[in-house]
Amino acid sequence: MTKALHRHSLDADFPVAVKGDGVYLVDAEGRRYLDGSGGAAVSCLGHSNERVRAAIHAQIDSLAFAHTRFFSNEPMEALARDLVAGAPEGLTKAWFTCGGSESIEAALKMTRQYFIETGQPQRRHVIGRMQSYHGTTAGALSAGGNMSRRAVFEPLLLGAMHHISPCFAYRGQGADETEAQYGERVANELEAKILELGADTVAAFVAETVVGSTLGCVPAVPGYFKRIREICDRYGVLLILDEVMCGMGRTGSRYACEQEGIAPDFIALAKGISAGYLPLGALLVADKVHRAIEAGSNEVMHSHTFTGHAAACAAGLAVQQEVRERDLLANVRKMGGLLKGALSEQFGNHRHVGDIRGRGLLLALELVKDRATKEPFAAELKLAERIRVRAMENGLIIYPMGGVVDGKRGENVMVAPAFIVEEQHVFELVEKLSKTLEDVLQN
Ligand SMILES: Cc1ncc(COP(=O)(O)O)c(C=O)c1O
Repeated sequence: MTKALHRHSLDADFPVAVKGDGVYLVDAEGRRYLDGSGGAAVSCLGHSNERVRAAIHAQIDSLAFAHTRFFSNEPMEALARDLVAGAPEGLTKAWFTCGGSESIEAALKMTRQYFIETGQPQRRHVIGRMQSYHGTTAGALSAGGNMSRRAVFEPLLLGAMHHISPCFAYRGQGADETEAQYGERVANELEAKILELGADTVAAFVAETVVGSTLGCVPAVPGYFKRIREICDRYGVLLILDEVMCGMGRTGSRYACEQEGIAPDFIALAKGISAGYLPLGALLVADKVHRAIEAGSNEVMHSHTFTGHAAACAAGLAVQQEVRERDLLANVRKMGGLLKGALSEQFGNHRHVGDIRGRGLLLALELVKDRATKEPFAAELKLAERIRVRAMENGLIIYPMGGVVDGKRGENVMVAPAFIVEEQHVFELVEKLSKTLEDVLQN
C-alpha cells in the first residue's frame, strides 16, 4: 500500500515512471509514452539531455546548496546574467524561486513593497483575469480566475484581488466587432475596474501573456497588450506578466511578450526555465522596482530557504545554453507550424473540434458538443480526464483540462512537446491523439 499521498486515491495505481529517453517516458513495465505535453509544458529538452545532467552532477559535486542569506553562488549569478541579457526593456534583475506559484507570490509582494518604498501605501488592489491560472499558493490562487481551482478555498482568498474578462476571441468577440475593436473593448475593462476601485488604489495587473491550459493556449488579439500597457502607465499600475507556461521559448520567442511588443514590470517564469531537471522558477524585475527597494529599505522583504539554489540554477543555466546554442527556438517555430498544420488537417473538420489555436509549441484543441453553436460538453462527462487516461493507454501524454467556458464547462486538450521534437514525433502525436479522441468521443 502506497505511503505517498497522491492527488487522487486512484492515482496510486498510476504507472511508475522509471526512465526518460528523449521525447519519451518509460514506465516500470517497459511501456513507452510519447510526451506530447512535457507534463504541463515543462520538459522542453526532453528527458535525457546529457549537457543538463552533466551540469547538475558537476554542480552537486562542487556545491549543491549554500543559503543565499550568507552566500551568492556562481550558477545563480550566471543564470541571472543570462536571463536579463536580451530581456524586454527595463527588466534588469532576476530573483530565483522553486516554481511558478512562488514566482507570482514574489511579484505580488515586491509590487506591494515597491508602493510602500515609493510612498503610495494606499495602492493595494491587484486585478487579474477570469479563466487564468497563476499558481496554487494563497496569493497566486487569489490572483487567478480559475473558478474550479479556487472554489473550495474561496473564503480564504485575498480580498484585494479582482478580475476582468480574458482576451479570448473564439468565445468573446462579438459578431459585429473587428478583432481590434474586441481587443480594445476587453482591455478597456481594466481601465473601468481601476476607476471603480479608485485610480490611486490599484497596485498591479497580472495576466498570462498567452493563456495556458486553463483557457487552452490563447494568445491575445493584436494590440490588446499595447492597450493594457498604456492603461497601466496612465494610472501608475505595475504590469505582471505570467510566463510560467508560455515563456522560455515555448511560443517561439524567449519571452512571449516580445511578440506583443511591450515590456512589463515583472515576468514570472518557471517550468521550461530548467526543463524539469530540477525545480526552479524566476522573477524578472524592473529596474525601477529594485532601485526603489535599494533606495528605500534596501531589503527584499520576501524570500524562501531555497531561493537561488545552486544546483537548480546550474540546471537552468545548462538548459538555457542548450536552447540557445542548438538554436532550438527556430525548431519551436518550425515544428510548431508543422504541428498546427497537422492538427488542422486532422481535426479541422472534426465534428467536436471547435477551435485549434496557440503559438509555437503551445497548442490546443477546444472540444465542443456542437461546432455551430460552440456548445460545450456537459461537465459531468469528465471528458478531459477520460481523454488523459485513454491517451496514456495509447502511449501518449497530453494535457486536457476542463472549464474553458466558465470554470466548469468546456474542454481543451493542450499539446506542448519538447523543443527537440522532430517531424516523425509530430505525426506520431497527431495519430495517437486522433485515435484517442475517436475512442473517447464515440463512447
Ligand atoms: C501560467 C501558470 N502560472 C503559474 C503556475 C504555477 O506554477 P507551479 O505549479 O510551478 O507553482 C502554472 C502552473 O501550471 C501556470 O501554468
